[in-house]
Amino acid sequence: MSFDLAIIGAGPGGYVAAQRAAAQGLKTVLFEERELGGVCLNEGCIPTKTLLYSAKLYEHASGSEKYGVSVEGASLDFSKVIARKDKVTKKLTGAIRVSMRNLGVEVVKARARILGGSDGDFRIEAAGQEYNAGKILLCTGSSTFIPPIPGLEAIGDTVITSREALSLDKAPQDLVIIGGGVIGMEFASFFNSIGTRVTVIEMLPEILGVLDEEISAMLRAAYTAKGITFNLGCKVTAVEGNTVMFLSPEGEEKRVSAEKILVSVGRRANTEGLGLETVGVEVSRGVKTDAHMRTNVPGIYAAGDVNGVSMLAHTASREGEVAVNHILGIPDEMSYKAVPGVVYTNPEVAGVGLTESAALKEGLDIKVLKLPMAYSGRWVAENERGSGLCKLVCDKTSGKVLGVHMMGNPVSEIISAACLAVERGMSAEDLRRTIFPHPSVSEILKETAWSEIG
Ligand code: NAI
Repeated sequence: MSFDLAIIGAGPGGYVAAQRAAAQGLKTVLFEERELGGVCLNEGCIPTKTLLYSAKLYEHASGSEKYGVSVEGASLDFSKVIARKDKVTKKLTGAIRVSMRNLGVEVVKARARILGGSDGDFRIEAAGQEYNAGKILLCTGSSTFIPPIPGLEAIGDTVITSREALSLDKAPQDLVIIGGGVIGMEFASFFNSIGTRVTVIEMLPEILGVLDEEISAMLRAAYTAKGITFNLGCKVTAVEGNTVMFLSPEGEEKRVSAEKILVSVGRRANTEGLGLETVGVEVSRGVKTDAHMRTNVPGIYAAGDVNGVSMLAHTASREGEVAVNHILGIPDEMSYKAVPGVVYTNPEVAGVGLTESAALKEGLDIKVLKLPMAYSGRWVAENERGSGLCKLVCDKTSGKVLGVHMMGNPVSEIISAACLAVERGMSAEDLRRTIFPHPSVSEILKETAWSEIG
């Protein structure tokens, strides 16, 4: 069987690329050994957001008195929450299947491996069958990294990853999370909301290392107030049964026990067993790619976590589009300057573009404008107690917005406006001259831009 394009992996990199390619006339085959939708849809973005929404509703119901609403006996049925998550996932994977069928994408449910060939004529094997393709797009994603710490070998029962955490049959009484990154904090948020005692052990001096430090510290303070224990700057030395041993920053030996231990210390690109060496694809942290998502081998492209650049679903989709455009000869190239990062805790945290510290590290002359979320009337109306912040990192001379960082609900939505500002090179003055709906939390962007004037 002969195709214009073979895509390996059907996550948000692969299936979106398949949609774009097929819609524009490329005869496309999509290989996926597991379920359509990849980690994002089956064990990442969507299932976690489904659980977090249930947790948020429960938190609202239990804490609604401060809004003058009493809910007697609010309760959460853990198995129903998990069942709803499965239903949502199934619905969305079904939708992708229909979309592939409607667009004429050939979906092969098997693991694919490159046998050889060159640009215009590659050979791929899957389930004993050989396929020919003019171009190949690698979208094989990433897997949970398990650090070489004694006791972390046996994943599945006490020690779990995000995959197992999504399908527990009951909520654990207590949970230790190793790694206070994005996955760690989203699960910390979920389990804390439903009554699990949560302890986070983070190697670095602050949680959520890639985000704005001030906002990360605010989020940690908010969750400390909600009862989570944070051990920062701590090195895990071993896990024995239900106990995690670690060293404090002062070198003191400490231990904490819990019913479950979640490991969330990062992910690694899936580059093994794909036959990359047979055609000479260069791999370092992931498959090396250029601005058109080309690898070093003509005709082979890579998009998504497999290239190890940004490891976010939305980056993967955009990279897939860039690769397809290059194949089609449509001018386009990948830009990472406005990749939003969102942490779906409660309150949410979101950022796009340069953080203050990254800008300073680059030696840029910047000004930072910031305002508490309480400057938004809508936010005050809907947030009894709690804190939030909006921060604009701007070029000092031109006022150009280089980065936007926020905490407070619903910044996961508002950040999209900030993405446009950063991507399009808008200035604080442009934000001041834009009409935002009133009352809306998004107005905080405009208010923060005005804060430099008075
Ligand atoms: P991460 O890189 O965000 O965080 C890992 C954390 O573990 C870091 O803070 C790191 O310092 C810490 N760490 C590493 N080794 C450690 C050790 N031995 N002991 C204690 N702490 C240690 O990785 P994470 O959270 O596993 O997420 C993986 C990927 O998935 C990331 O690229 C993330 O952006 C993405 N993701 C994105 C989400 C979103 O956009 N909302 C949600 C979940 C994941």
